[in-house]
Amino acid sequence: MIHGVVGAADQLGWEVIGFRDGFEGLLPPGDYKVLKPKDTIGILKLGGTILGTTNKGHFAAKVGPGNVTAVPAEIVAKAKRTMDQLGVNALIIVGGDGSLTTGLQLFREGWPIIGVPKTIDNDLSATAMTFGFDSAVSTVVDALDRLHTTAESHKRIMVLEVMGRHAGWIALWGGIAGGASVILIPEIPFDFEKVSEFIKHRDAQGQHSTLVVVAEGASMPDGALVTIDANAGGEVRLGGIGEQVAKQLQLLTGKETRSTTLGHLQRGGAPTSLDRILGMRFGVMAAKLAEEGAFGRMVSYEAYHVDSVLIEDAVNKLRLVEPDSELVDAAKAVGICLGD
Ligand code: F6P
Repeated sequence: MIHGVVGAADQLGWEVIGFRDGFEGLLPPGDYKVLKPKDTIGILKLGGTILGTTNKGHFAAKVGPGNVTAVPAEIVAKAKRTMDQLGVNALIIVGGDGSLTTGLQLFREGWPIIGVPKTIDNDLSATAMTFGFDSAVSTVVDALDRLHTTAESHKRIMVLEVMGRHAGWIALWGGIAGGASVILIPEIPFDFEKVSEFIKHRDAQGQHSTLVVVAEGASMPDGALVTIDANAGGEVRLGGIGEQVAKQLQLLTGKETRSTTLGHLQRGGAPTSLDRILGMRFGVMAAKLAEEGAFGRMVSYEAYHVDSVLIEDAVNKLRLVEPDSELVDAAKAVGICLGD
C-alpha cells in the first residue's frame, strides 16, 4: 500500500512522509520519515508495516463493537500542530474499523483525511475486501493442510481457532479452502450436540478424522464470548474458544481431540500476490483521492474494481457473513457443518 502511495505521489511531484506508530507519530515533535520510491520497492514482500503501528494509545476511538469514544480535544489539537508545522495536505489512514473511526472524527473536525481499508478481519462495510485478509486466509489453509496429517493418521478431531474478531470471514474462507468439515462462526449460533452427531455420523461412514475451524469470536451455545481479557483497554481480547470446543467434542464423541490456536501467525509473513496487488492499487487510489481533494472518503473494492466510498459508510457497522448467503449455502452444499 505504502509503495502504491509513494509511487503515485512521486509522479505528481509530491513529498510523502510516513508517521511512525500510526496516529502516535503525529504527537509533537512528530515522529515520521520521508518516503521515496527507492525506500518502498523492496517492501512488497513484507507483512505488517515498515512504519510501526498501534491499535491502542492516545487516538483509540473504539471500545467494543458499536461503542465509540471521541479522541480528546487536547490530543487532536497537539496532533494538528504537527500537521500544520509539516504542511501536510492529505493524511492517509490505513486500518480497520478502529483507525477509520478515529479518521472520521478528524475529518469531521476539518482534517484532510483519506481512508484505506486494511484488516485481516475483512469486516469493514462498503468494501468487498480489505487487504491483509487473503494473506491471513492463506495461513489458515496452510495450517489446515498440515493438520490433516495428524487428523488422518491418528483418526482424531483437530480443532483450529482462527482470528477475525466478531466476523467469521477468515474461518469461513480458510475453512472451506483448507478442507474443514466443521466451521463455527460468530454469525451462526452452533449446537454441540449437532456438531458431535455430525462427527459421529462421519465416523460411522468411515471418515474417522475431522477438521474443525472455529472463529475466535464465535459464541458458546449460552451466548458467551470466550475472552483472554475482557477489559483490554479498548476492544475485548478474544481467544480460547478452540480449547473449549475441543473439550466438549471429545466428551460428546469419545474421539481424541486436539486444538491449535493460530494466533498472530495469521498476521505475519509474506503477503499473497492478491494482497500485494490490492495494496498497491489501494495506495494509488488513495493518492488519486488526495489529488482530487476527495477527503472523508475511503478506498473500496467491489466487483474487481478499486473505487471509493464515504468513510462514514464504512465504519461502525461491521460487515458480517450473511447466514443465508450463497457462500454459506455453498459450504453446506458440499457437506460442511456450520453447527446449526
Ligand atoms: O483486528 C485484527 C486482529 O488480528 C483480530 O483478528 C484479533 O482479534 C486482534 O486483531 C488481535 O489484536 P492484538 O494483536 O492487539 O491482540
